[in-house]
Amino acid sequence: MPVVSTKAILDRAFQERYGVAAFNVVNDLTMDAVLAAAEELRAPVIVQTSVKHLDITGVDVMYAMWVAMTKHVSVPVALHLDHCPDRALISECLATGWNSVLFDASKLSVEENTRQCVEVVEEARRYGAHVEGEIEGFKRTEEMTGDEAENVQSLETVVDFVRTTGVDVFAPAIGNAHGVYAGTPKLDAQRVTDIVEATGIPVALHGGTGMSAAQFSDLISRGCAKVNISTALKIAFMTSAEQYMQAHPAENDPSKLLPAQGAAVMDMAKHHIQLFGSAGRAWS
Ligand code: 13P
Repeated sequence: MPVVSTKAILDRAFQERYGVAAFNVVNDLTMDAVLAAAEELRAPVIVQTSVKHLDITGVDVMYAMWVAMTKHVSVPVALHLDHCPDRALISECLATGWNSVLFDASKLSVEENTRQCVEVVEEARRYGAHVEGEIEGFKRTEEMTGDEAENVQSLETVVDFVRTTGVDVFAPAIGNAHGVYAGTPKLDAQRVTDIVEATGIPVALHGGTGMSAAQFSDLISRGCAKVNISTALKIAFMTSAEQYMQAHPAENDPSKLLPAQGAAVMDMAKHHIQLFGSAGRAWS
């Protein structure tokens, strides 16, 4: 069975200090390309779905694609629901078969976030599923102010949240953001070390697109076992279509365009898997 628990994938990566890429897929083509990249490189991988793309595709259709596409995959893979503030959607995904969820109550107070996250963890456990938690929220890169430490909670608050909720992986704000950074971001790597030492659980690195190879290897060595990549996938998907249409302006058959997009997304995924040190880490 190629589908394993998110915790099985992350705990191993955390222990051996490599990073598992968690790619946000947008449709069948991108899901297939990410799985093919992992298979080719013998790497464990996490496929993530955003609330936005579940709204477009539908939970049942997305899950049916997942089941069909992972049937013959021989590397460890898991399906994760990214940033979800909607408890009903979390319940639906857990009941359908997602392996883990990120309960995003970062807009609520830490107290209310903690209270609800305890319930989400309890619910997930009934399905053998796992939970990522966050208490700070992430900006879009275009909203960055240069003082990204302004909304950061104390280490004591993080430890209390992790212990009380029992989350399996924690996503801290370390100066990272979603989107395209204007330059190489300034990240608080020490915060990852502090959180890992104090909690003993793996950290999820958000806003992976645009970080440098040196930043990835430093952060992964400190305990960032899950490395999220979304924007880079979207860029590969969109720019490969643009380039193809510029080169073939009269083409009106999608069956010519789609393989070019799939190849671009697969290359992007392979690049990140290699960068994170998870190539060849599949186990049987
Ligand atoms: P990027 O879009 O910056 O790659 O971030 C992905 C992410 O963290 C998804 O939660």
